[in-house]
Amino acid sequence: MADLGFGSVIGQWNGAWLMTRFGIVGGGLMGHGIAVALARAGHDVAVYDVDPRTLATFHSRVGQALAQCGITGAQAERISAHVTTVPALNDVAREADVIVEAVPERLEAKHRVLAQLESAAAPATPIWTNTSVLSITRVAEGMVRPRRLAGVHWWNPPYLIPLVEVAPGARTEQRVVDDACELLTAMGKTIVRLRRDVPGFVGNRLQFALLREALHLLDQGVCDPATIDTVMRSSLGLRWASVGPMENADYIGLRLTRDILRNLAPHLSTDKEDFPSIDKLLGEGHQGRSSGTGLLTWPPGREAEVRQRLDEGIRRNLTTTP
Ligand SMILES: NC(=O)c1ccc[n+]([C@@H]2O[C@H](COP(=O)([O-])OP(=O)(O)OC[C@H]3O[C@@H](n4cnc5c(N)ncnc54)[C@H](O)[C@@H]3O)[C@@H](O)[C@H]2O)c1
Repeated sequence: MADLGFGSVIGQWNGAWLMTRFGIVGGGLMGHGIAVALARAGHDVAVYDVDPRTLATFHSRVGQALAQCGITGAQAERISAHVTTVPALNDVAREADVIVEAVPERLEAKHRVLAQLESAAAPATPIWTNTSVLSITRVAEGMVRPRRLAGVHWWNPPYLIPLVEVAPGARTEQRVVDDACELLTAMGKTIVRLRRDVPGFVGNRLQFALLREALHLLDQGVCDPATIDTVMRSSLGLRWASVGPMENADYIGLRLTRDILRNLAPHLSTDKEDFPSIDKLLGEGHQGRSSGTGLLTWPPGREAEVRQRLDEGIRRNLTTTP
């Protein structure tokens, strides 16, 4: 709204987006990745994290991320110089043109941080929440100026994955969403703009609908976890980077698509709370990669191998996908 002057602090000159000062709260996996993506685009980034150990490793993690992008030496130093860490949340809030919230996915944690940010930031400063699945309207509950909050959902690793999903909450100012979309588009990101707030945006709803069905297959004793990954990686994973499910539905024909849905839908999972195959593992203390066992086993070296395979696979797809 005009009274808040949204858009007055970030803007364009001669059609190009001006360098913007970003403040990021939460310097973990996503916070550091978003910092790298923004710094590569020439923006200045100040990062605050409540955990001093996270801040202490921040610059080395930025360096590693740049190396994954194939950027080293003087160029990496130039980009890293755009990123600073700061010792207090107020420093981020006061100086930033745009604030990115990237603290853990717990509503009360987000509410606490947003309250602190609002008491320190200028009234017009937009705030982008990187929530994965929380409703933006609920994240904005309790805010003095909920109009400044937009859902801006990056994908990991944010400096490689093109997509950013942008969604308004029920009270988000349109201009905040417009600016986010334009600024991110100018950075070369692929922006999808949701018409309304929905838990999980689009990507995570699709991803977790699929995961629910995969767990259902395990629970029914149809196959083991490694088989699920083989099926995905050798079929749908190859297809979906080139032809999405909507285009594919048209391509095979909507009549066949509907016939398949009518035959299959009654058999698909509708589980809402209990997921026996992971409930059991969690009950036994198995958390996946971090504990060494999960759906699969994680001997030493597997984590690094998966990370490298993931980054290389994404990079390969980016060079071949239009
Ligand atoms: N991990 C992913 O793949 C992914 C992808 C997209 C979105 N997200 C979302 O991004 C957000 C952050 O996730 P992450 O994976 O980076 O988590 P993370 O645990 O790696 O990082 C969160 C960071 O926030 C810090 N923190 C906690 N409370 C804080 C506070 N009060 N002030 C400042 N810092 C605080 C923690 O110390 C930690 O370093 C979550 O909402 C998550 O759902 C995650």
